[in-house]
Amino acid sequence: TKLEILDSEFQVRFSHNPIHHMERRLKSLNSILGKLQRRNLPLTVDAIKDNLFDVAGVRIICSFPEDIYSLSDMFLRQDDVKLLKRKDYIADPKENGYRSLHLIVEVPIFLTERTLRIPVEVQFRTIAMDFWATLEHKTRYKQNIKDEPFIAAELKTCADQIAKLDIRMQEIHKYIEHKE
Ligand code: GTP
Ligand code: MG
Repeated sequence: TKLEILDSEFQVRFSHNPIHHMERRLKSLNSILGKLQRRNLPLTVDAIKDNLFDVAGVRIICSFPEDIYSLSDMFLRQDDVKLLKRKDYIADPKENGYRSLHLIVEVPIFLTERTLRIPVEVQFRTIAMDFWATLEHKTRYKQNIKDEPFIAAELKTCADQIAKLDIRMQEIHKYIEHKE
């Protein structure tokens, strides 16, 4: 809801919607248990609370890289959004080429009797980065593909080309909007 409001205000102020679309998911019980087991943690609610910060996840898919930074800055300026962790895989891509901005934030959930503070993993990426991440993610689930050096190298090349393309598309957008 916070991000939808920012998107609308952005539209009014700059005649541009920074958010292309959003996805949200709650981690399934099976994934939660699997992650606890992989980390040798006890299968308890306390262990989830203390160790898993991605039970609630939101993915914000933007058109252009600059939208990611303006939107995430506006989001983090809100008084009741507390930043727990920030990983900028756009400025500092992963070795495989993965790019996205990851925030772990704590947000209040107002219930009838009390307010809960819940951690949420918020991922920001462009449409093109999302296109890449979806395909790369698929290769993880196919046996004998992930480790094939050719596929890994192809994905890395595509990721780097996508990063360049994102910047060029952003420049074209700015040009036609007479922003600079
Ligand atoms: P977990 O991955 O949640 O165990 O913790 P972490 O500390 O390694 O978190 P990180 O911020 O690196 O990644 C969290 C999420 O980002 C993942 O669950 C994926 O949704 C996404 N992600 C991270 N790296 C990659 C990647 O190389 N490829 C793809 N497709 N998604 C990735
Ligand atoms: Mg990880």
